[in-house]
Amino acid sequence: KQALNIVKMKKYKQDGVPLSMITAYDYPTAQLAEEAGIDLILVGDSLGNVVLGYNSTLPVTIDDMVYHTRSVVRGAGNTFIVADMPFMTYHGSVDETLKGVRRLMQEGHAHAVKMEGGLEIADTVKAVVLAGVPVLGHIGLTPQSVNQIGGYRIQGKNAADARRLMDEAKALEAAGAFGIVLELVTEEVARAISEELSIPTIGIGAGRGCDGQVLVFHDVVQYASPYTPKRFVKSYGDVGTLIRNSIESYVKEVKNRSFPAEEHVFTAADGVLDQLYG
Ligand code: KIV
Ligand code: NA
Repeated sequence: KQALNIVKMKKYKQDGVPLSMITAYDYPTAQLAEEAGIDLILVGDSLGNVVLGYNSTLPVTIDDMVYHTRSVVRGAGNTFIVADMPFMTYHGSVDETLKGVRRLMQEGHAHAVKMEGGLEIADTVKAVVLAGVPVLGHIGLTPQSVNQIGGYRIQGKNAADARRLMDEAKALEAAGAFGIVLELVTEEVARAISEELSIPTIGIGAGRGCDGQVLVFHDVVQYASPYTPKRFVKSYGDVGTLIRNSIESYVKEVKNRSFPAEEHVFTAADGVLDQLYG
């Protein structure tokens, strides 16, 4: 399997072939996602929530992103990997932004970076693209701005909101973004944006009109305790239950001494104990 690139992604859109994307934060998950034939992997700052246990993505640092991106890249060497720029790392000077981008690309070995925001980051996107780094945009519900938005709310319900989202999408395309994530956007507006742009849109909670879909790995496999279902997510497995049951069985067998059993033990040569006690 050969890794996808941003030129092929545009061709996928022209040919009507949807893009599949999932998040991953470590080596084994990345391996499994690549084996499963995923098109793109996102090392999302959602790792703050689903891996590090914070209640938002705000505490995630560039160091966190570099560490996790490196392990994902080691597991999925033939997959296009996008790494999130964390909260407050791309709103200062271009210089400061490029330093963070450099770390994700050069130390993390990502193929592209993702940034949340619209018109206000268009110039930043342009500067990063000019440095030779593909940028994936991200508009709609942008979790890094949760305190400003006032919660995890659906975007694009009214005409003014729809207009704003369309303007943001066009500004990001003009700035050179190779694609745009649309998060929690009404289906009609996401479809209109997808039809208007020549770069692919990748939706999460944004309906059926997007050029691709992205989901968080932990949602797809229900890797949480307890797992809370979300309307826009479809789960395809329940590894949370599988893991809990497996560990429960292990604990039980240690306690009742049925593990380890004969097939798990190593045997010394005959007479070893005689020599040991001489
Ligand atoms: O961090 C993340 O997982 C994301 C996706 C939800 C698009 O940004
Ligand atoms: Na993210």
